[in-house]
Amino acid sequence: MSPAPNLQGGRHEPTAGFDWAAATLPETWPDRLRPWLPWEMAQLAWSFVRKRRPVQLPADLPGAATLPKYLLQEFHNLPNGNYSHNITHDYVRQFERVMLGCLTGARAHMASHLLPATDLLDVGSGGGSTGAQLLAAGAGAVTGVEPSPYLLRHAARRHPRIRFVQGLAEHLPFEAASFDAVAVCFVLHELPPSFMRRALREFHRVLRRGGRLAICEPGPTQWRRGAFDLWRRHGWRGVYFRLLAKRAHEPFVGAWHDLDPVAELQAAGFTAVRDEEQFPTRHLQASVG
Ligand SMILES: C[S@@+](CC[C@H](N)C(=O)[O-])C[C@H]1O[C@@H](n2cnc3c(N)ncnc32)[C@H](O)[C@@H]1O
Repeated sequence: MSPAPNLQGGRHEPTAGFDWAAATLPETWPDRLRPWLPWEMAQLAWSFVRKRRPVQLPADLPGAATLPKYLLQEFHNLPNGNYSHNITHDYVRQFERVMLGCLTGARAHMASHLLPATDLLDVGSGGGSTGAQLLAAGAGAVTGVEPSPYLLRHAARRHPRIRFVQGLAEHLPFEAASFDAVAVCFVLHELPPSFMRRALREFHRVLRRGGRLAICEPGPTQWRRGAFDLWRRHGWRGVYFRLLAKRAHEPFVGAWHDLDPVAELQAAGFTAVRDEEQFPTRHLQASVG
């Protein structure tokens, strides 16, 4: 019953009607570890700190053959990255805590730019928290698009009122002008710059005239400033977010901080671009003229 979509192959919605909440997905190696065996638990604990390895995907995983290579890394030091039942289950819950609860305020700020909206797209929807908060704030229909089948399954179970579709930001599986709002929360810094640029053009394509885009990403301050400076400006939270920025495995985050996202958004066709830092997040807001 698993669909085998080509995630890089076109504008149709390959898994649009698919019930991710009921999906049967194959196990990956972290799912097969047995918690009652100390050796296997030690192996799991070690995998959080050892050198990162490429993610291993079962051949029958939906989309496996067409997921881009850059995604198949152990982002955030997660064993097998976003591709397991168990680790992603905990990640979905812990992400908000690791961010010390600041994403609720950040998403409210995104809502202030995006709403009212009839059709809203949440790109890189992960566990679905951004789409769910925007739905609760008054968005009409919400669609989440996400490459990881495991995250799609968790999200669909947690948020049955949201439609979830498997896909990539840089190859959105939707027709042009399908949405009047696009939300992107903590996703673009995970893409290599050329894919990130393609994603911006895709956001512009799927938005209607007058449509709005809100992006929230890690801010540059905790990446650029030293620990002492951050302590003086933000106290222990400053030092904490610096540690997080430097220690979490995010292979393209340095490239993200090096580029000028306002110029990139303008190059993708957006107008009225605004850029604002609210430590520890950065907000970019733009419109389709
Ligand atoms: C840090 S999580 C953020 C999840 C969610 N946006 C939230 O606010 O809770 C990053 C998410 O982006 C997804 N992602 C990474 N690369 C992507 C791409 N090229 N297209 C779409 N989603 C992507 C990951 O699978 C993951 O779910």
